[in-house]
Amino acid sequence: MPESARKILVTSALPYANGSIHLGHLLEHIQTDIWTRFQRLRGHECYAVCADDAHGTPVMLKAQELGITPEQMVEQTRAEHHQDLSDFLVSYDNYYVTHSEENRVLCEDIYNKLDAAGYISKRTINQLYDPQKEMFLPDRFVKGTCPSCGAEDQNGDSCDVCGATYSPTEVKNPRSVVSGAEPVLKESEHYFFDLPQFEDMLKGWIRSGALQEEMANKLEEWFEAGLQQWDISRDAPYFGFEIPGAPNKFFYVWVDAPVGYMASFMNYCNQHNIDFDSFWKQDSDAELYHFIGKDITYFHCLFWPAMLEGAGFRKPTGVNIHGFVTVNGAKMSKSRGTFIKARTYLDHLQPEYLRYYFASKLSDGVTDIDLNFEDFVQKVNADLVGKVVNIASRCAGFITKRFDGTLSHNIVDAALLEEFQQAEGKIAALYEARKYSAAVREIMGLADKANQFIDANAPWVTIKEEGKAAFTHDVCSLGIHLFRILTIYLQPILPVLAEKAEAFLNDTFTWESMQEVLTGKPINKFKAMMQRVETKTVDAIVEASKQNLQATPAVPLSDNKHLSADPISDTISFDEFAKVDLRIAKIVKAEHVEKADKLLRLELDVGGETRQVFAGIKSAYAPEDLIGKHTVMVANLAPRKMRFGLSEGMVLAAGPGGKDLFILEPHEGAQPGMRVK
Ligand code: MSP
Ligand code: ZN
Repeated sequence: MPESARKILVTSALPYANGSIHLGHLLEHIQTDIWTRFQRLRGHECYAVCADDAHGTPVMLKAQELGITPEQMVEQTRAEHHQDLSDFLVSYDNYYVTHSEENRVLCEDIYNKLDAAGYISKRTINQLYDPQKEMFLPDRFVKGTCPSCGAEDQNGDSCDVCGATYSPTEVKNPRSVVSGAEPVLKESEHYFFDLPQFEDMLKGWIRSGALQEEMANKLEEWFEAGLQQWDISRDAPYFGFEIPGAPNKFFYVWVDAPVGYMASFMNYCNQHNIDFDSFWKQDSDAELYHFIGKDITYFHCLFWPAMLEGAGFRKPTGVNIHGFVTVNGAKMSKSRGTFIKARTYLDHLQPEYLRYYFASKLSDGVTDIDLNFEDFVQKVNADLVGKVVNIASRCAGFITKRFDGTLSHNIVDAALLEEFQQAEGKIAALYEARKYSAAVREIMGLADKANQFIDANAPWVTIKEEGKAAFTHDVCSLGIHLFRILTIYLQPILPVLAEKAEAFLNDTFTWESMQEVLTGKPINKFKAMMQRVETKTVDAIVEASKQNLQATPAVPLSDNKHLSADPISDTISFDEFAKVDLRIAKIVKAEHVEKADKLLRLELDVGGETRQVFAGIKSAYAPEDLIGKHTVMVANLAPRKMRFGLSEGMVLAAGPGGKDLFILEPHEGAQPGMRVK
């Protein structure tokens, strides 16, 4: 039975605007998108919004490093992120940015309401200050010797060696990460949000069904530790919104970031004539869900509901928390090539493979999700190509060639068809509960049954037998009906496959479509719907991810939580380093590569030997500027077959990317072929 239509607003956490979308982010966006598409397919009024998280010290400093304004940087990154996500078939209704007028107005409004209700206070605090850069330093921007164990070069808030946590003022020999200067203590007046006043409300809310039980238990621990006043202001210079009535004081990025959910939706509502208030007012009948990773639970399950409550808005119906992505059992690592960016994946593979793989692993829990490459290749090939698409490819040819491209009027195994149709309730419940892996298991179980049915009736045998034409027609037709139901069930995960199936069947799917059967209907000629994944393609992604390894960022990527995937902590042994054969190379030829938007084809003279290398430096160099230059290359990198030809090495370049990418140019005197040591 179709449920009555629900009004639902869904969000994913807003990616920071100073780094690329990677596999970790994708898990979350894919999880969100599957749920969103499922709700829409069921006919509910379901909107999904996201945005880039624009503000804060790391964004400000990175823009300075690039020599552009933070506004410019944020707009570039926003566009790149949006493109990456769209190409992964993530279907946000709006992908906005927190540095927007809507967000400024909403933040000021919320702050003014909180202030009027007595939830804001002021207090002077002492904080480390960089006298050279003339700015206060977030914890992550101080490094020094651990006060606990004496390990050098530790973060300002915690020690990687002994695990101690401390205040940056306790660090011995502190240094500013920004300038290297020794920080001094300096006074400043800060604004605080009175979180403890919300304790009772929060205790009730976390037990209202809004949280997974394991997370609700975790929050209990935080209550036991005692809620604290929350410091919501930062001093200039800061990229953010100024606090009303407080010149040179800015909202801390984590104040305006969740308000960015509202702002993105407001921006959408204004363009589409949707009633924003009906979703956000205190007694709203709409549902509101945030999908987030476990590292940002505190912000979403304590501060955010308290802010909403204090300012007279509704609270989230649910905060859906997921675990972290690991690759081959370990944290994503740049040097191992497992810190894979969305774009690097897309350069090699279709998005649906990853969508399917993540779906097959996702549950409603917070355990980490491992992407194991072998398992990935095996599962995608066996399930999608070997089971699902195979059903159609085994049946369609006979229908087209022998039965005039029309499905039969008869259902040869009504019980089997009914079993497929009746699985609907169970599969819907699993999607609804975010138990995607169980839904996938259910669907693949059906796919097995469809294949067994075809095997048992062997249409490729009966087609040759006298008097079996009608039977063969019925068997192949039922195969197609079953395939159709499977693609409807898979549509939230595999929208492109579903689209191809719709075109093949002249159909438009809704969730209820599985109750109809296309008996007697024409179908189109079957075209291959999905290719197998090759192990070497996955290897190429890893290789390319190693190539992405650029100069390590000078400033931390976020100032407020532990890095989700630490890009700089991996070390290699001296022996591993010694294996790298770096040579001086002369660029004798450089040219554009057709259909490649990042690559140039280079011919390099390495002392008598010529090598062809495809280098991703097109954004920074015109070919004619390169010819005749000396540079440094990795000469013993295994050759890599690319779409355009063989790449026999790698040219070293530094910089954040785009126009700011610099190949290394050794001094004159360094001759082609010389070893770099
Ligand atoms: N900007 C904040 C969120 C503000 S929401 C009002 C932020 N950004 S982030 O880019 O660091 O992370 C965005 C989301 O990606 C978070 O939910 C985070 O948990 C998730 N992930 C980042 N790395 C991840 C993995 N390796 N694995 C799974 N999810 C991870 O936090
Ligand atoms: Zn220590």
